[in-house]
Amino acid sequence: MEITNVMEYQAIAKQKLPKMAYDYYASGAEDEWTLQENREAFSRILFRPRILIDVSKIDITTTVLGFKISMPIMVAPTAFQKMAHPEGENATARAASAAGTIMTLSSWATSSVEEVASNGPGIRFFQLYVYKDRKVVEQLVRRAERAGFKAIALTVDTPRLGRREADIKNRFVLPPHLTLKNFEGLDLGKMDQAADSGLASYVAGQIDRTLSWKDVKWLQSITTMPILVKGVITAEDSRMAVENGAAGIIVSNHGARQLDYVPATISALEEVVTAARGQIPVFLDGGVRRGTDVFKALALGAAGVFVGRPVVFSLAAEGEAGVRNVLRMMREEFELTMALSGCTCLADITRRHIITEADKLAVMPSRL
Ligand code: FNR
Repeated sequence: MEITNVMEYQAIAKQKLPKMAYDYYASGAEDEWTLQENREAFSRILFRPRILIDVSKIDITTTVLGFKISMPIMVAPTAFQKMAHPEGENATARAASAAGTIMTLSSWATSSVEEVASNGPGIRFFQLYVYKDRKVVEQLVRRAERAGFKAIALTVDTPRLGRREADIKNRFVLPPHLTLKNFEGLDLGKMDQAADSGLASYVAGQIDRTLSWKDVKWLQSITTMPILVKGVITAEDSRMAVENGAAGIIVSNHGARQLDYVPATISALEEVVTAARGQIPVFLDGGVRRGTDVFKALALGAAGVFVGRPVVFSLAAEGEAGVRNVLRMMREEFELTMALSGCTCLADITRRHIITEADKLAVMPSRL
């Protein structure tokens, strides 16, 4: 059957993958309320399209941290991609560069930074988890920089792993032929079986729960790469990110895998953007599945979006071709949304092109 949207890859991945792998990719924390809300919140935002505008030419190119990319849609870091497909992160890297966009490589990739860099040209960011052993972190950051990665996405929402009940039930652990490649030489590449989730135990053992804003400063002292703070969902932390020298913010709730009952990222976006006061760019991930979602995020002030699960599911279904297809479909849907809204470039997208629940509740005659 022909695939016509990125969500259709999920069912195919479910059929193809062992239950332990599929559940790891698909699940969220606890009641999965935020997981559902990440999607539903998009569906409550409606359009105010403008008509009779010449949309015969549409430019969706943009610049992220000074790097020119083909569209404001990028690849989020997701761990263990070789569990989805033998080519894993390498296939994703090739698909992203073919699409002219940025791939973010997870710290917990099943391919090393050097291996991923060897897939030819492409702008790549490195997602960082901060280990208790700071020598490990320093070494890894230096390796990523040397391998040509252009920025660090520092994940700040994971002092401990969220409670993902499917992984607990499955006693989730990496398949024996795979390791956390970036940590292999450091004796931290293996994830042991545990009485619950093997990953949760690994995190409890290795990840630094003391991480704080002073470490963001420390990170700036060991690298020249710009730092994106990934996992901000409040105005307060948006200000802190600006004040502590972040190059950008990623509004993220970790794909609803950490704290359950946080708002959908699209609902938190506007307060973070307002608090950043245009001083640094704000990006968003979480539940982005349609070109219309991308448009809504940009209308609320995002400089771009990242996509997580659709990449892993399409990778499981069709490898590199699947990821290419996801990026193509997202691009085409977004371009069509622009045309039907009367926008010919990203700068044309305004807050007035959409209406949110909050707008409907507030009496805002000035908007009408
Ligand atoms: C993730 N995410 C994630 N984030 C991170 O900083 N480091 C990581 O290693 C991972 N790994 C990971 C694995 C899987 C299977 C998922 C689904 C997610 C979170 C990811 O970067 C991103 O925030 C979300 O995936 C975005 O939400 P969607 O697009 O999956 O809804």
